[in-house]
Amino acid sequence: MRLDRRIDGAPLPVHSDGQTKSDPLGKPQFHDDVGDGGARSDGFVMASTPKSFGQRAEGNDNDFEFIGSFGHVVPSGQGFMNTIPFGSFMTPALEAHSLWKLYEAGESLVEAVRDVNIKIDSGEMVAVMGPSGCGKTTLLNILSGIDEPSSGMVSVNGEKLYGISDDARTDLRGASFGFIFQDFNLLPVLSAAENVELPLLLKGEAPHEARKKALEALEMVGLEDRGEHRPAELSGGQQQRVAVARAIVHQPSIILCDEPTGNLDNNTSKEVMSLLSEMNRNQRTTFLIVTHDANIAAKCQRTITMSDGMVLTDSITTPPEEE
Ligand SMILES: Nc1ncnc2c1ncn2[C@@H]1O[C@H](COP(=O)(O)OP(=O)(O)O)[C@@H](O)[C@H]1O
Ligand SMILES: [Mg+2]
Repeated sequence: MRLDRRIDGAPLPVHSDGQTKSDPLGKPQFHDDVGDGGARSDGFVMASTPKSFGQRAEGNDNDFEFIGSFGHVVPSGQGFMNTIPFGSFMTPALEAHSLWKLYEAGESLVEAVRDVNIKIDSGEMVAVMGPSGCGKTTLLNILSGIDEPSSGMVSVNGEKLYGISDDARTDLRGASFGFIFQDFNLLPVLSAAENVELPLLLKGEAPHEARKKALEALEMVGLEDRGEHRPAELSGGQQQRVAVARAIVHQPSIILCDEPTGNLDNNTSKEVMSLLSEMNRNQRTTFLIVTHDANIAAKCQRTITMSDGMVLTDSITTPPEEE
């Protein structure tokens, strides 16, 4: 049966011919009769039990095949050879299948993300580029559990991010991700050290432990002597380094950045980017960096370009050795 509603229960857009809207090529997007587990009524296409590569679901209508060892399901014709590069069998840090995000804007419907499939391996540093409004922030927010997709699935280190309880998602997000934003998002009334330790305190960590880790993180970004300063007493580059310290203080495996250097001048943005590259090299932290800046993308090992909600290109690039 064709899925006829979004996760939030709203109906999918309907074409003038009365058919539920399908993808731009006219292929149906979702089914919900794919055997044991299979697609769920909330739009996530998941198997309940892990399957090995290429195994087909019993009792299905051959419209789906299982891929990978986590039981992800994709429509046939978009099988695993198209989704997972040959030879790559380790658990990806971040994986998305058939992501769509629709926004209602008055009478019209914006398709902000359209059928995006992405796999990012642990330790990769990936840039996401594309013109303003092409869906970069929406995609990042979905991949990080901030904003639910209209349909599709996301997994983080092999664990699904949606179709679980809010508490479970909050825990998974908190343990897995650090965030760096264009406008730093520091709390102005708190000192640098207080900003950095806040996520640990919110998680229930003892204050002295949280402060110790915050000072260590500030030392890592070269701001050990600025712990008592409030954001207004710091330069833009220093504020972003405080934000980097806050992103790494709980040692997440993945750091998601939305235009991290968008508010910084050239030199400062180079410094911040060098800091991120160093973390990627030394600690194998996975990075996904949305950026307009070709210099930032050039420091990444892979660049994904987006256009009109879709992935346009996905290419490996070789960053220059750190001078
Ligand atoms: N909350 C929202 N409500 C309605 N439309 C939105 C919302 N957020 C984003 N959009 C629209 O989705 C599209 C993608 O936006 P966005 O992901 O912010 O693009 P980018 O980050 O690439 O500039 C744009 O057309 C934008 O106007
Ligand atoms: Mg954006």
